Amino acid sequence: MRKALLATALLSSLASAEPTIIPLPKEMKEGQGSFPVSPETGIRYDAALDGITKLFAADLKERTGQEPKTVREELRIMLPSEIRLDLDNSLDLKPGGYKLEVTPKGVTVIGKDVAGAWYGTRSILQMLPAKGTDAWTDKAGAPVPVVSITDEPRFVWRGMHLDVGRHFFPAEDIKKFIDWLAFHKLNTFHWHLSEDQGWRIEIKKYPKLTEVGAFRDSSPPYGNRNSDDGKRYGGFYTQEQIKDIVAYAAARQITIVPEIDMPGHMAAAIAAYPEFGNSDIPGYAPKVIGRWGVHPYTLAPTEETFRFVDDVLTELCALFPSQYIHIGGDEAPKDQWEKSPRVKELMKKEGLKDGHDVQSYFIKRVEKMLEKKGRKLVGWDEIREGGLSPNATVMSWRGEGGGIASAKEGHDVVMASNSHLYFDHYQGVAKDELAKGEQFEAIGGFLPISKVYSYDPVPKALSPAEAKHVLGVQAQLWTEYMKDWYKVEYMAFPRVAALSEVAWTPVERKDYAGFRGRLDGILKHYDAAGVKHGDPLDPPKRETKDGSTITTSLGAYQDHWPEFAYDGKPGTFFWADRALKADDHVTLKFRAAVSGKAKVVTGGPASQNGDKLAGGVLEASSDGSQWTQVAEFKDGSAEGALPAGTTGLRIRVTKPQENWLIIHEITVE
Ligand code: ACM
Repeated sequence: MRKALLATALLSSLASAEPTIIPLPKEMKEGQGSFPVSPETGIRYDAALDGITKLFAADLKERTGQEPKTVREELRIMLPSEIRLDLDNSLDLKPGGYKLEVTPKGVTVIGKDVAGAWYGTRSILQMLPAKGTDAWTDKAGAPVPVVSITDEPRFVWRGMHLDVGRHFFPAEDIKKFIDWLAFHKLNTFHWHLSEDQGWRIEIKKYPKLTEVGAFRDSSPPYGNRNSDDGKRYGGFYTQEQIKDIVAYAAARQITIVPEIDMPGHMAAAIAAYPEFGNSDIPGYAPKVIGRWGVHPYTLAPTEETFRFVDDVLTELCALFPSQYIHIGGDEAPKDQWEKSPRVKELMKKEGLKDGHDVQSYFIKRVEKMLEKKGRKLVGWDEIREGGLSPNATVMSWRGEGGGIASAKEGHDVVMASNSHLYFDHYQGVAKDELAKGEQFEAIGGFLPISKVYSYDPVPKALSPAEAKHVLGVQAQLWTEYMKDWYKVEYMAFPRVAALSEVAWTPVERKDYAGFRGRLDGILKHYDAAGVKHGDPLDPPKRETKDGSTITTSLGAYQDHWPEFAYDGKPGTFFWADRALKADDHVTLKFRAAVSGKAKVVTGGPASQNGDKLAGGVLEASSDGSQWTQVAEFKDGSAEGALPAGTTGLRIRVTKPQENWLIIHEITVE
């Protein structure tokens, strides 16, 4: 009997979920039992960890209701229950690495450096039960599971971006955001501080940047992006607020990389100081923009403007100690430069042949300014246009191409691809999101958390030596469709959790099912703290809607499985992984004989509209060997009647094509 009980206990402990911890550590060995954290639990700490000890003590107080006692390591004061925070820079770990031992008797964190010790405290907080849950009322204390962890980050740049130009968020919200980034061991907050629709940072030398540039007359309302609400909108951060936030982030081991986007996305600044725009073109009338999208106002590449840029960067560098300064560089239309006599003159003088050359000239000038200030330039991948400045770091957002090319040329890159890392895209099926209310509108796209999780920041196209230039990974939050803070949280979380595992965990340790299990515990932490997170949408199952089977001569691109062509779901589709040859096929074997009208639609949403079937036929069979044509594809679609007793439906390519193939859905009715 005892034996049986023991076996059951052992089994249930083996089956128990992994501790709640995201990102998953590099090495983690689970044991038996737990260490109870109670109001008696104190912290013994290395003097160099004074700052993070105070923060960790505040975190524990928030949960236990009592300020924990903290004692310096060298003092011989006994604590009845102890968490020890220590440092050992001889640990054979990368910067940010740490060891964490939890036994029933105590907890020890040893950081390779201060950041490492901080990450150790984040792991403890995550493994504790969520604040306010029953475990906290247990007299013995709240349990941290016994575990032995050796951990270090995969990448040095683990970034999250936030656009405060389209919508402005108060300093307190920014701090909350930083807390939750830190909770997942992210270390870079990319703060997008200027936009066509608003300039958000006080610059003492140019007060009109905020007096004029921080306010717009109107914005599009939710649900109708092509209209105007006619309401004045704006806000900005004072330099005092910025300093406070920078220090707040630094204490939490987060570097803030500020972005002033130039030479495009500058309409608000140009509205404030029209002399820095292309004022010599016909119809010049800059204003702070009240619609989304890309706008033509760009800075003029004049000496006067470069002095302005230099002045702004001087104040920026005084506020932000970050080694990297982001100068944007994206989506700068060349129209105004092409019309400007001044720019034409400059092009002649400098031998610039087109707008791309002007952009490159502009960015190179800015890089020199930053180098004089001892900083490094990072910009969106358009800074490649016309030639990259010598020491620039490239943030690859238009897919991976800019990142791959730059890394091959020896430039450092941060992967920020809009395919997997744009958190302004829908996390659920658009129509389900919109059913919750028009305030759930997103810019578009479909980025379920599983897709974020699937991302590998090191593109296969890079050799190991080239891959060393990948500093890391970053997700973006563009806020056109995020007027209020709850919406930012809704779009950011829990996808930030997936991002953190992409950025931190060794690729061979990644496991979506395990992540999903651990995420449930993380969601409880969010809920306890009132974070208005979205719902994680699990990846669609690789199955047809009724057990019919699909075979094909084609491979599947990423996880766009053939079964998705017949799963009845609007958000999924089959995507072949190559150009088509004659007689390539996709063949559906029905679970039971069918008859009626069959319809096949190929070609995807706008971003994939090339991948239609140009030449092909739809064929039916009742025995799987004799096939009869029932329709021919026209403009990517085919529709035909299936005779009674049809057991198979085949899409057969009749004309080779360069484009790949998307089959959105096969229907029979
Ligand atoms: C960007 O999304 N324009 C960087």
